[in-house]
Amino acid sequence: MAKKIEGDFEISRIPPAQPYVLNQEESKRQDAFFTERSIPHVLAQSIEQYITKKVGREWNHPVIIERLRRAIVAQKDDYWKPAQKRSLQYTKGYSVLGYLAYHFPVYFMQTEYLLMMLARDGLLKKSMNILDIGTGPGVVPLAIADFYSRLDDARATVWSLERSEEHIEAFTYLRNACVPPGGRVSVKPPVKTDIRTIDRVALPDTFDLLIFSNVLNELVDPTTDVQADIVTQLSERLAPDGSILIVEPADEENAIRMRNLTITLLKKGLSIFGPCLFLWGSTCTAPRCWSFETAPAIRLPRLMETLAYCEDSYRYVNTDIKYSYAILRRDTLKRKSYHLSAGSRFLRFSKLHLHVGKRINVAGLKMSAELGDARSHVFKLCDGTAKIPVYAVLPSYHISPENDLITSAPYGSILELRNVLVRYNRQHDAYNLLVNRNTRINIENS
Ligand SMILES: C[S@@+](CC[C@H](N)C(=O)[O-])C[C@H]1O[C@@H](n2cnc3c(N)ncnc32)[C@H](O)[C@@H]1O
Repeated sequence: MAKKIEGDFEISRIPPAQPYVLNQEESKRQDAFFTERSIPHVLAQSIEQYITKKVGREWNHPVIIERLRRAIVAQKDDYWKPAQKRSLQYTKGYSVLGYLAYHFPVYFMQTEYLLMMLARDGLLKKSMNILDIGTGPGVVPLAIADFYSRLDDARATVWSLERSEEHIEAFTYLRNACVPPGGRVSVKPPVKTDIRTIDRVALPDTFDLLIFSNVLNELVDPTTDVQADIVTQLSERLAPDGSILIVEPADEENAIRMRNLTITLLKKGLSIFGPCLFLWGSTCTAPRCWSFETAPAIRLPRLMETLAYCEDSYRYVNTDIKYSYAILRRDTLKRKSYHLSAGSRFLRFSKLHLHVGKRINVAGLKMSAELGDARSHVFKLCDGTAKIPVYAVLPSYHISPENDLITSAPYGSILELRNVLVRYNRQHDAYNLLVNRNTRINIENS
């Protein structure tokens, strides 16, 4: 920062921006929005109107609805193909219309939850430059504009990158319909580019937040090295106190790949803010780490309801929110500071093999929602040292006031578990830590 003093300039460092902390009213407004579980009416309506405009017939005409159904099924079939056999190019109008009808509502709400998480983590600033990479029809920018509409005076300028013309056209329509010009959030027109080669793209020098939402797994060649190169190249534009949010679908293959990517990014010099914490200081190797966050299912928008009004309705209903995410930074800030050392009265997960059949104490992060059922609760645990996956298993008849915190603790909480029995699960090549009524579990709020 330069200040003119008596014909000279005084140069000083710009003080780091303070986190934007939501006041009570802002939090209340956000909570009310999340309680509704619906995408904003104006957005749902604009998606319908865009479809009508694109196809030249009412969006709910039976022929159009049938074509949308076919596009959704084709897109899902494509998604589940091995990466090198997928097309997912979004060059045809209907592929984008199918995306708007089926994927958009869930990803939009998911982004709203992620923004709330960033706010709670103190990672939003009063004024931010944000870059959304692989924006599609503008899911993330539109969610940012909506989230900020419930804040009092935070501002953001959102840039985005996208290669598909069809997506850009949908983005532009929705932006014009839903984001008032001159508001506190300015959504810039998306830049058409391939994110693997962005050298010549005109963008601001620094961003406070880079978002990769459901894009890295859709690259034509989604190897960890290619993904890591894209993230590291863009991270050069990250402010020293900025954050990178990577979000990927929660299915086993994509979630595991995402976690491996974060470990590669660590080796390239970025650091992990969350959800991972390496409690013993050493970096983990992400052994088959299938970890994802969940949020309440959304209410069916009218378009999805119309699509689902048929025999195979389940094919057209997409309301569950499940996602794998990581926040990375250039500095070493962490979501929580909690460290274990040799003197701690807990066993490292890397030593579990020496204690099979014994009762031990451990500390670890809860890294899943419920993976079991009403008879037997199962949760993934991690302390950053495991060589194979570790799960806490709590039979329902052993639930007690001393151990039931594990069922309600949020994703990413640090738990201390005292008196659990170590079992090796041969079928899954994993360790199960059996929790019984003599186990005490508490949550660490450091
Ligand atoms: C699944 S969509 C995600 C859209 C949005 N971010 C969301 O979360 O809903 C993936 C987007 O990434 C874009 N994409 C994939 N590879 C790309 C590349 N190499 N360059 C630019 N965009 C790409 C696709 O065109 C598509 O719009």
